[in-house]
Amino acid sequence: MKKQAATRPIGVFDSGVGGLTVVRELHRALPHEDIIYLGDTARVPYGTKSPETVTRFAGEDARFLAGKNVKAIVVACNTASAWALAALQARFAVPVFGVISPGARVAVEKTRNRRVGVIATAATIRSRAYPLAVADHDEKARVFARACPLLVPLVEEGWVDHPVTRAVLREYLQPLLRDKIDTLILGCTHYPLLKPLIRRVAGPKIALVDSAECCAQHVCEHLALAGLLNPRLDRKGRIRPFVTDDTAQFEKIADRFLGFPVEQTWRVDLNSTVARSTKG
Ligand code: DGL
Repeated sequence: MKKQAATRPIGVFDSGVGGLTVVRELHRALPHEDIIYLGDTARVPYGTKSPETVTRFAGEDARFLAGKNVKAIVVACNTASAWALAALQARFAVPVFGVISPGARVAVEKTRNRRVGVIATAATIRSRAYPLAVADHDEKARVFARACPLLVPLVEEGWVDHPVTRAVLREYLQPLLRDKIDTLILGCTHYPLLKPLIRRVAGPKIALVDSAECCAQHVCEHLALAGLLNPRLDRKGRIRPFVTDDTAQFEKIADRFLGFPVEQTWRVDLNSTVARSTKG
């Protein structure tokens, strides 16, 4: 039974294209696993929406993946992890992993002065999910949080090494640097693409915690413990992308997030189970 379950794909969802940074890290850690990715591009962004809406959307995304017979669900979206993870874990039979707790754990391991910064969407910051997760690992650590709503559109525009983005980052990071953080959690799917620029603005002494990397490591450890790693090591895993809006728009920028070309993308209507062919 377990052996059969282990060969099933891993399901990953996000509000849009950004979750491909998590897929990239998962594929790096587990290259022989198949991954089904859902980007809810029709309803992106989640980071500006209310907890109720984010939780409802996340439930529909996860239900789509469960319908694809996945062995685990990874909530790649920080905003959805912040608001909906517990509800999803209670509702679905397969293991459901988020990005918040793994990142918080690594930040606590890395900080020396127990002053941790976190940057994320407005909804993630409002949830206080990161401070709570950091406190779970070290209740004496202090968290300095900053919502950075301009960064997602800048990254999607491809302005990852642009003077405007540098100026915006300086504005966002200055208060955190004044608060003497020594560790910074990149608490949003899009921020790994900004790592070189963030490093330049924050300076070499700040440890950067990439929530995509931490999540992939966490999923890897837990699937191993649960006996759910695909035993067929001689194969290369497939990554199958689905989106809820125009596929061409997604495919145009997806490669930058994934780090290599995406397979043909399928458009789906979450209210029906039928996947329509591309060109949607
Ligand atoms: N995926 C979202 C996150 O990581 C960023 C984009 C959005 O606001 O939907 O929080």
